[in-house]
Amino acid sequence: MTDAEEFGLLDVDNVEGFGDEWEEVDVSDTEADRIARKRDREFLEFRKRIKNSERLKVDDSVFDDATYAAIYKLVQDGYIEAFGGPISTGKEAAVYNALGADETTVAVKVYAISASDFKQMRDYLDGDPRFEGIGNDKRKVVMAWVRKEFANLKRAKEAGVRVPDPIAVERNVLVMEFVGSEEGQRGHRLAEVDIENPQTAYEVVREYTRRLYDAGLVHGDLSEYNIVVHDGELVVIDLGQAVTVHHPNSRDFLERDCRNVANFFARQGVDTSGEQLLAYVTSEADPDP
Ligand SMILES: Nc1ncnc2c1ncn2[C@@H]1O[C@H](COP(=O)(O)OP(=O)(O)O)[C@@H](O)[C@H]1O
Ligand SMILES: [Mg+2]
Repeated sequence: MTDAEEFGLLDVDNVEGFGDEWEEVDVSDTEADRIARKRDREFLEFRKRIKNSERLKVDDSVFDDATYAAIYKLVQDGYIEAFGGPISTGKEAAVYNALGADETTVAVKVYAISASDFKQMRDYLDGDPRFEGIGNDKRKVVMAWVRKEFANLKRAKEAGVRVPDPIAVERNVLVMEFVGSEEGQRGHRLAEVDIENPQTAYEVVREYTRRLYDAGLVHGDLSEYNIVVHDGELVVIDLGQAVTVHHPNSRDFLERDCRNVANFFARQGVDTSGEQLLAYVTSEADPDP
């Protein structure tokens, strides 16, 4: 077994080529919107239950009615069985572990509509053909953002990049594979571990960056904080802000990603630099916008 296999570099033999069949992203009213509007008795009861029950305990201070409606729909559809605890609470999104279908553990990322940096999100959506004409409604922008993260995870996975498997998306809530132990302990970020073989890890990240770019995507926030190490695998997370190569700033984002990654690995003794990584990623990749 080669080092690359040890780090879980995916086999791309069976990966389909990247076309220009952009993901249709539907930001029109979802069923959850209609549920939220109707505010029927069933929903009110559910909300009480989710706030009070041990099994579906969530931090009620951050969830508005629309978020409960989304979670309600995800529970109804069988994607979420029970909430665990928060594994991360950022400014814009909180991530929870939860019990999903078939006894699996899933990660649930909940975006706060009110706290989101709407202006910045709007900037990242600009120039992305998948999100043309979504307008300036804050709620719609956040919903588009979450759908974008879901679509990006799918695209990355299809390109042979190890990312959390996207499972479901509803309004401002994303359900994905939980990367961590069966007991619900999240996997460590690259920044939190002593890497045994930095050179191999670097080569895996370099290859994933190239594959992503080859598939027309730039991560946009790639660093040791958005790569998780679990079970000998490196898993790239947090693809919400990832943009397609159409984005006016995609080149800047790619340069910054390469700099962050190369600087981190250079500190671990790997002979690399942002320029070297960028040259590799762009020369070995052929994005077809
Ligand atoms: N699918 C997942 N499995 C396990 N842990 C996760 C998953 N997604 C996110 N996390 C944890 O939650 C943290 C925040 O998630 P992230 O997607 O990076 O959002 P943010 O935008 O807040 O940085 C991550 O650093 C990681 O520790
Ligand atoms: Mg992050």
